Amino acid sequence: MVSAWLPSVYKGNAGLRIITPQFEPATGTEMTQDEMKQAVAHAAVEYIKPRLRDDSIVGVGTGSTANCFIDALAQIKDRFAAAVASSEATAERLRGHGIEVLDLNAVSEMEFYVDGADEFDPHMNLIKGGGGALTREKIVAAVAREFVCIVDQSKRVDLLGAFPLPVEVIPMARSHVGRKLAALGGQPVYREGVVTDNGNVILDLHDLEILDPKALEVQLNNIVGVVTNGLFACRGADVILMGTPEGVETLKA
Ligand code: 5RP
Repeated sequence: MVSAWLPSVYKGNAGLRIITPQFEPATGTEMTQDEMKQAVAHAAVEYIKPRLRDDSIVGVGTGSTANCFIDALAQIKDRFAAAVASSEATAERLRGHGIEVLDLNAVSEMEFYVDGADEFDPHMNLIKGGGGALTREKIVAAVAREFVCIVDQSKRVDLLGAFPLPVEVIPMARSHVGRKLAALGGQPVYREGVVTDNGNVILDLHDLEILDPKALEVQLNNIVGVVTNGLFACRGADVILMGTPEGVETLKA
């Protein structure tokens, strides 16, 4: 459930600054995970709304939290021009709400990219790609001035890597890349039956403690046959809206 905005607050929290806005559930109740996703989706709309113009293009991510955002965004669809989608599924949902979806190549400026994540650390580094859309997500995020990440608190970790790191791979390179990933000390697992929107396959890298996310992101992208990997560290989130049972917290580095 989503209720009123609270005034600005500043609290120390493992290196992240918590600032306004916050949502709070009605007195005496705690939000469920679904309600937290709804709450952060609405918080994201409130966050971007003041800076939207008639000609603004909004970049939109993929996943269950991003779906909540799309539904909330539809309520203000007259406040911006169009969206760019990070997956076919997102494009379909946006169009279903009557929101125009543009090819990224037709867009030179984008103020916001709003998307979920599978994990985030205190330095705003992310693991993404649980839904298999990591490559398009990373491309759309690269164009946006601000990456607004929307998550519930279950995604927060001190060290990335408990969530298996997705790596999108050209199909003919699957075994080669798998051997290279295993040599890094992780356990690559082929995501059976999944073909990405780009026609590629995904290897999920299990059991890897990610001590230096930026270095690993670059290292993985240098393996021949890798299209991209789910570390968003070289370009992490700029702001994280995190749902907690008590409300939404806004985190900035
Ligand atoms: C899809 C993603 C999603 O953002 C990530 O998997 C989180 O999804 P959800 O909001 O359903 O938990 O990276 O590729």
